[in-house]
Amino acid sequence: MRSEEVCGNTFYNGDCISGAAAHIPDDSIDLIITDPPYGINGGRLHRHYNRDERFVIDGYVEVAAADYGEFSCRWIAEAERILRPGGSIYIVSGYTNLYHILHALRGTHLREVNHIIWRYNFGVYTSRKYISSHYHILFYEKPGGERTFNLESRYGALERGPDNRSLNYSDREDVWCINRDYKPGRAKNKNELPAQLLTKMIQYSSNEGDLVCDMFLGGFSTAKAAIGLNRRVTGFEVSEEIFERMIEETRAIRPGCLLPTLRRPETGAPRNQGRPWSDAERETLVSRFSEVIESGGTKKRAVETLAEELGRGRWAIEKMLRKEGVVTGGGRVYRQQR
Ligand SMILES: C[S@@+](CC[C@H](N)C(=O)[O-])C[C@H]1O[C@@H](n2cnc3c(N)ncnc32)[C@H](O)[C@@H]1O
Repeated sequence: MRSEEVCGNTFYNGDCISGAAAHIPDDSIDLIITDPPYGINGGRLHRHYNRDERFVIDGYVEVAAADYGEFSCRWIAEAERILRPGGSIYIVSGYTNLYHILHALRGTHLREVNHIIWRYNFGVYTSRKYISSHYHILFYEKPGGERTFNLESRYGALERGPDNRSLNYSDREDVWCINRDYKPGRAKNKNELPAQLLTKMIQYSSNEGDLVCDMFLGGFSTAKAAIGLNRRVTGFEVSEEIFERMIEETRAIRPGCLLPTLRRPETGAPRNQGRPWSDAERETLVSRFSEVIESGGTKKRAVETLAEELGRGRWAIEKMLRKEGVVTGGGRVYRQQR
């Protein structure tokens, strides 16, 4: 089977069932994220969507509906074998063949962690029934080891939003509202998963240096996100046409390039949380906020800087700025009459 190396990561152009059997050792993968063909005539799938077909890459290999059950059992058995004890697997599935995937999972020792619903935009338009705008994400673990779950990788346990709801709680609810990436005029695979969705799964369920596998690479979106987040990655794509095109795009990704774009969670209680604000602290808040904004910083950056300097949560900083009547406009800071 042909393979290509990208930054020390090996990708295989071939069937994932025989490919994994030949190339991936038992218990070697920390995290599998994968989106198998849906068995619903994926060759024509893109025609339902209101998009320019010239940019959708040909070559998508579909599985016949009649073979879907057996196909699912075979690739999921391989996934179970290569996953390390304690490793996690996320499988994205539409509802049509979901029962085959669930049936295949029940035939393994993999254990359900969550059944997630991913709600997306641009659902298939219908006029005589409801519009389908969700996928299922089956999150399972291989028993026998410690599962990675980075509780505060995205939001600290104490961080609250403007409505005073816990940001960590909201981010970990099992209904995820994440839009598909909008890539007008750029080549894409049918059904490409959004980077935001993949980043979330990778952040919670792996650490830098861990080995991620995608059994059905398609547009290599899992691979690109994993490299960008400084994980190692491997995977399979049976279509030569898709593989050729996407391996070149993947070469352009710099390991770790997505890390600086990630939100920095506030972990642990800020040292001054709950303490009343002194007059001096309020003065510092306003003057330092003006300095950061007027030296070209964004409001978000200024709030983060002040949260760090004053030992308070971001939400507390924003709330006090509002109370002090501080507003920004045109790169300057003003104080409204209270
Ligand atoms: C739903 S797409 C994956 C999309 C991908 N997650 C993305 O974000 O672009 C499924 C892919 O699996 C490929 N495929 C189908 N059968 C396969 C097999 N037996 N082994 C490996 N890849 C296969 C298809 O050609 C298609 O590109």
